[in-house]
Amino acid sequence: MTKISVVLPTYNEAENIKLLLPALKKVLEDITSKNYEIIIVDDNSPDNTATVAKETARSIGIDNNLKVIVREGKRGLATAVIDGFKASSGDYLVVMDADLQHPPEKIKEIYLELEKGAEIVVASRFIKGGRDEGLSFARKIFSKGAALIGKLLVPQIRVLSDPMSGFFALRRTVIEGRLDLMNPKGFKILLEIMVKGKYSKDKVREVPIVFGKRAYGESKLGLKEILDYLLHILSLNEYRILKFMAVGVSGIFVNEGVLWLAHYKVALPVYLSGLLAIETSILSNFALNSLVTFRKERAKGTVLTRLAKYHVATAIGAFINYATLLLLTHLLRLNPLVANLIGILLGFLANYTLSEHYVWERVGRYE
Ligand code: GDD
Ligand code: MN
Repeated sequence: MTKISVVLPTYNEAENIKLLLPALKKVLEDITSKNYEIIIVDDNSPDNTATVAKETARSIGIDNNLKVIVREGKRGLATAVIDGFKASSGDYLVVMDADLQHPPEKIKEIYLELEKGAEIVVASRFIKGGRDEGLSFARKIFSKGAALIGKLLVPQIRVLSDPMSGFFALRRTVIEGRLDLMNPKGFKILLEIMVKGKYSKDKVREVPIVFGKRAYGESKLGLKEILDYLLHILSLNEYRILKFMAVGVSGIFVNEGVLWLAHYKVALPVYLSGLLAIETSILSNFALNSLVTFRKERAKGTVLTRLAKYHVATAIGAFINYATLLLLTHLLRLNPLVANLIGILLGFLANYTLSEHYVWERVGRYE
């Protein structure tokens, strides 16, 4: 029979854990009768979350289903989840916050998705039936922005409407043998799993949740977690965006160099030299991006189809650059150099995104 492990990272959640444990008992006994475990990973909370959790478990008769891990010092949400996984033995692993912002009864729906064959199930605020009633307006904007940057840089999370979610479940097979590869910074453990886990894209499911208000205490997300998130995203991106930029800069030199050769040395007319220069730089960028930026990707199709797609991508990027220049100078009367700079930036982003998600699009299963 399938066993469920619920991993709860906690830091100062004593009041909340008193309410959460009975709610978890109810839903988990309903699904598995007694075949479940709850693993609390607490960073030695000053409010004695760990002791309170054990006392609560005893009073409701689930001490046999509870494991409490206490770590020294506040070491972060994501690593707490990894440590919880390491201590777990369930076939299905559920991760949720301990502050009641994640409705425990949703575990049933999540469990049913896993039973139907899903490998990863994410509770989402942003699909039909889901809502966010817990975050302030500013945090909602931040959360959306963070998700957008994340999706731009990390293709594996594009299947999710709510990649920032802290409430999700997976089959043990997704992380089996992979935990030592994981190097989670800060809050976002789900991203790490989406990038480094073993699963099929089409076996990822989402269920809607209403993300509620915190019952007690306050959020632990601060500036440090935000900076960690950005570094985390860059590292999950394996710095491809930086390599892509460097390749782009090299392309400028190729372009100018060929123009100079063709026009001044071979005396070809400018309209021909220019075409030659642009095409050569497209080819050299393509070669370098294949060899350097997207070297490790198992991309779809053949080199030739990618080369054709790359021409489409660069044409779109160039068009966006050009259109931005014209629009901003004519409509907003912006200085052409400034307008062009914005155009170059937008063109670059379009170029990068199309390269990542269209030209070097990956095959479906992440191994
Ligand atoms: N062990 C441990 N160590 N636990 C921690 C730490 C830590 O350093 N920091 C936070 N936690 C625990 C909290 O006690 C709580 O149970 C859970 O991790 C989530 O922390 P919150 O501080 O409540 O996060 P939030 O509500 O601001 O953000 C949540 O919702 C966001 C929106 O979906 C998190 O789930 C985010 O990951 C999520 O993006
Ligand atoms: Mn919270």
